[in-house]
Amino acid sequence: KAGLLYFGAATDTPGFRERAPYPQSYAQYDAILADPDEFGQTTPTNGQKWLFTEPQPALFNFTEGDYVANLANRTGKMLRCHALVWHSQLAPWVETTEWTPETLTEAITRHIRAVAGYYRGRCYAWDVVNEALDEDGTYRKSVFYNVLGEEYLKLAFRVAAEVDPAAKLYYNDYGIERPASVKTAGAKRLVKMLKDAGVRIDGVGMQAHLHADNHPTEDDLVETNRGYAELVDEVAYTELDVRIKTPVDEQKLKWQSECYEKVVGACVRTKKCVGITVWDFYDPFSWVPDVFPGNGASLLWFEDFSKHPAYDGMVRKFGEL
Ligand code: G3I
Repeated sequence: KAGLLYFGAATDTPGFRERAPYPQSYAQYDAILADPDEFGQTTPTNGQKWLFTEPQPALFNFTEGDYVANLANRTGKMLRCHALVWHSQLAPWVETTEWTPETLTEAITRHIRAVAGYYRGRCYAWDVVNEALDEDGTYRKSVFYNVLGEEYLKLAFRVAAEVDPAAKLYYNDYGIERPASVKTAGAKRLVKMLKDAGVRIDGVGMQAHLHADNHPTEDDLVETNRGYAELVDEVAYTELDVRIKTPVDEQKLKWQSECYEKVVGACVRTKKCVGITVWDFYDPFSWVPDVFPGNGASLLWFEDFSKHPAYDGMVRKFGEL
């Protein structure tokens, strides 16, 4: 795909896709997902998160994560693994335990050793820490930060590097796609902090949950990528979707296509941009309408399995580059 290592789609465990209106259409969904001409990479949208992998202290469960990891293996796709340390979808016990810095250090170490250890050698990349920054670019006051300060970031990357030396280790966040944003500046500070501490970090993942009616220019995206590329070996668009304010119409679908095309253009124009992952590809399985009512149609296939104009837009864009 025009110099990228992959173009992929994230997916979830079938049991988590209950919102889909037509259970009988799962076969069609699975066929598109499996098709190597559509997607060369996948990421589990939920299954490797702490809530599912360590629901009770030291009790590990890889059922959900394995569904997508095995699918990747079976269909010959690269696997991005997501996410080792995140304040959300945490097992409740992590938030209710009275931690000391020592006990939380042990718990994080045990979690990463178990999860990254279990998937060792199978993940092209790991999102080691996800969304550690607030909207103003300062550190988010998560349980991890409140107990350990920025030490938790160093710890997570150090342990991941020990456990799976071949995996590319990423910092992943949303709202860090534009060059002038304070959060982008925060992400760069975070990466520099890790590097100054002698900790290995290989990549910055920009989630890219974007809006059809207000999206960055391609040049802005390229400028952001170049900023990160001065600090790390690779960047990637890890959770791309482009939401539309419903109802959907032709104009909004056109803006959406332009946005998807700009991301393709920006990644191809950035030498260190390794790939693009859409955060699922089928509208009924998108997280967007649940969290932002009045928004939707953010992916590439409509509910009836017809394709968004953005699909052809991206194919055309890849062809031009
Ligand atoms: O666990 C229940 C399950 O038992 C039930 O069958 C199912 C019915 O719909 O709901 C399940 O929980 C939902 C879970 O997804 C699995 O589908 C949660 O209610 C729902 O909140 C959760 O949403 C996920 C969200 O992260 C949580 O923050 C989305 O699917 C997932 O796409 C989304 O992904 C995040 C990335 O990890 C990080 N970046 C932002 C991105 C979008 O929010």
